[in-house]
Amino acid sequence: MGFVIAIDGPTASGKGTLAKRMGEALKFKVLDTGLLYRAVGLAVVRAGGDPADAALAVPAAQKLDASRLADDNDIRSDLAGQYASQCSTIAGVRAALLEFQRKFADAEPGAILDGRDIGTVICPHAPLKLYVTAAPEVRAHRRHAELVSRGKQLSYEDVLADIRARDDRDMNRAIAPLKPAPDAIILDTSDMNANSVLQKALEYTHERRRV
Ligand code: C5P
Repeated sequence: MGFVIAIDGPTASGKGTLAKRMGEALKFKVLDTGLLYRAVGLAVVRAGGDPADAALAVPAAQKLDASRLADDNDIRSDLAGQYASQCSTIAGVRAALLEFQRKFADAEPGAILDGRDIGTVICPHAPLKLYVTAAPEVRAHRRHAELVSRGKQLSYEDVLADIRARDDRDMNRAIAPLKPAPDAIILDTSDMNANSVLQKALEYTHERRRV
């Protein structure tokens, strides 16, 4: 087993960007685990169903082909994020996706997984766990700027409301709620840019790889 880096945190905290850039710097494989839940939600909706319906979402998770998730044009949309947030509260969906994530974490020389429950449930023995967060208003500003730059017409208030709703659902669900693992390092990025977040995370990585 290689060196596993678990990155968790709320929506739009910058954990995805951090995971990608750490992967490039360290030559580690990176898995954005949110894509798995997004793909399940989309599969259910495309078949005409409700992503919160366990009778549909669990078989969709069991049948998921996780090899080409990023090829789906709709997978990063806000709507897919909402479907993901709904089906991710279902125990059978989480159980069906667990094995794939654990196998991925075996990669040499190392693997980075980012999500909500990586340090707490998927890879509880990861030698480095980062919990990346920022104030909801800061995350909403970043997400809003990103959406506007992609030509989307959304108000800041709507983005903030969506972020708060997603936080609430992710942090207060019964199974695998979003929370820092007891041994996670908290990285509050409210006053940091992406470069300094990366440098800090790489410092922690080098420290932990030495021991
Ligand atoms: O990170 P992303 O926004 O793609 O995740 C979409 C949704 O999928 C999250 O709001 C969360 O409900 C769910 N998710 C999860 N566990 C993960 C990754 C994502 O429950 N490891």
